[in-house]
Amino acid sequence: MAFPEGFLWGGATAANQCEGGYDEGGRGLANVDVIPHGPERRLVTAGLRKMLDFEDGYYYPAKVGIDMYHRYKEDIALFAEMGFKTYRLSIGWTRIFPQGDEDEPNEEGLAFYEDLFRECKKHGIEPLVTITHFDCPIHLIKEYGGWRSRKLIDFYKKLVTVLFTRYKGLVKYWLTFNEINMILHLPFMGAGIVFEEGEDHEAAEYLAAHNELVASAWATKIAHEIDPEMKIGCMLAAGTYYPYSCRPEDVRAAQLANQENYFFVDVQSRGRYPGYALKELERRGIDIGMTDEDRQILAENTVDFISFSYYSTRCSAGEGSDAERTEGNAFAGAKNPYLKASQWGWAIDPLGFRITLNDLWDRYQKPLFVVENGLGAKDEVNPDGTIDDDYRIDYLRQHIEAMRDAITEDGVEMLGYTTWGPIDLVSAGTGEMSKRYGFIYVDRDDAGEGTLARSKKKSFYWYKKVIATNGADLA
Ligand code: BG6
Repeated sequence: MAFPEGFLWGGATAANQCEGGYDEGGRGLANVDVIPHGPERRLVTAGLRKMLDFEDGYYYPAKVGIDMYHRYKEDIALFAEMGFKTYRLSIGWTRIFPQGDEDEPNEEGLAFYEDLFRECKKHGIEPLVTITHFDCPIHLIKEYGGWRSRKLIDFYKKLVTVLFTRYKGLVKYWLTFNEINMILHLPFMGAGIVFEEGEDHEAAEYLAAHNELVASAWATKIAHEIDPEMKIGCMLAAGTYYPYSCRPEDVRAAQLANQENYFFVDVQSRGRYPGYALKELERRGIDIGMTDEDRQILAENTVDFISFSYYSTRCSAGEGSDAERTEGNAFAGAKNPYLKASQWGWAIDPLGFRITLNDLWDRYQKPLFVVENGLGAKDEVNPDGTIDDDYRIDYLRQHIEAMRDAITEDGVEMLGYTTWGPIDLVSAGTGEMSKRYGFIYVDRDDAGEGTLARSKKKSFYWYKKVIATNGADLA
């Protein structure tokens, strides 16, 4: 048998990329709402262009998303038809605490997710819940400066206490922060940071990172106290950095780039700051405000499992290299001449998936959960309404084969695998709808036009077969 009994097959979404209903159910405004489609999106997500409210002349795709707020029953039924064992989704923080710092939660928001989780359970689907997926209340950004402030730790503790208490028995698997290392690349998305004039960017990012790491450890502690059955995972935007060549400068550059990512999981899984990070902070004169209590909380509350997204490996070149640069999942780097790329320039590397799985397993020796993987591609609808997305099937088949090899040949331990965007949704990077990952097509375009109707692509039937055979039939 290739995949273990009970392997959790499924798909993953994020509230801000699919829910919509941004002003319904008592929900407050969040950073993710005010990130526009178009050329300024990158600057806003990077904290370089201040946009803390809707501005005239911009289109904001998260306002409607794919309207899952109103259609989740239909969508979960489609996931169930594919045989999903798990569905990863995220909580909109501002549905629960519209401002972020209230004393009492918003009952309508809590009821919404309770209903959604019950709907999953009705279909035998285990919810896998990301507590924050690039999500931060606007009020906390305006009032406290986002995750730069330690106060956010307390607000987050309140949020998770409410969630764990309310959903005890309904939700077992939780992820504390989506792609926590994105703080260093997209700080407005990752930590609600808008840089001040003259501010030391790295200092702000590492301060926010520390506060999120401490908050994550608190969440682990609180979860285990409320329900010892709960399993808490960290979530990394993974993808091993290869050296561009065997030139020692390139190998060293790749080592440093890998450490920059591992730093987060090193803290969350090993319970302490690694030496290379402490030295780097010291060299740069960055004070993250570590307290004795922080040290203790981090040490005593490490994660139960390691989750991550994988889209591609990356490549690093040291000083003096003539390597060409390329795009990736918010990580621009050296272009790997051996790999083909997606329509959006992301390298495609299934063997790199096996390498990344091995690297993470070797380093942490905790079960791995792949919670995002997939191909963003343009789809064409045939005149009869069908969609032949063989390119998506090929990508997923090769990656699932690589994952199977990691398990069966290399002994990597895994809990499950959720593809990114099982239903087409708004792209986090670009705000486009045309960058589609889904098995389910959604009739909506980049300008927000379309009926929002759902239809099944060829990959829908393929993934259904993969799950039904527990990964044995990938043809
Ligand atoms: C990950 C995020 O970075 O990659 C998702 O967790 C995101 O939110 C996914 O959608 C794919 O990226 P993009 O830019 O193609 O949407």
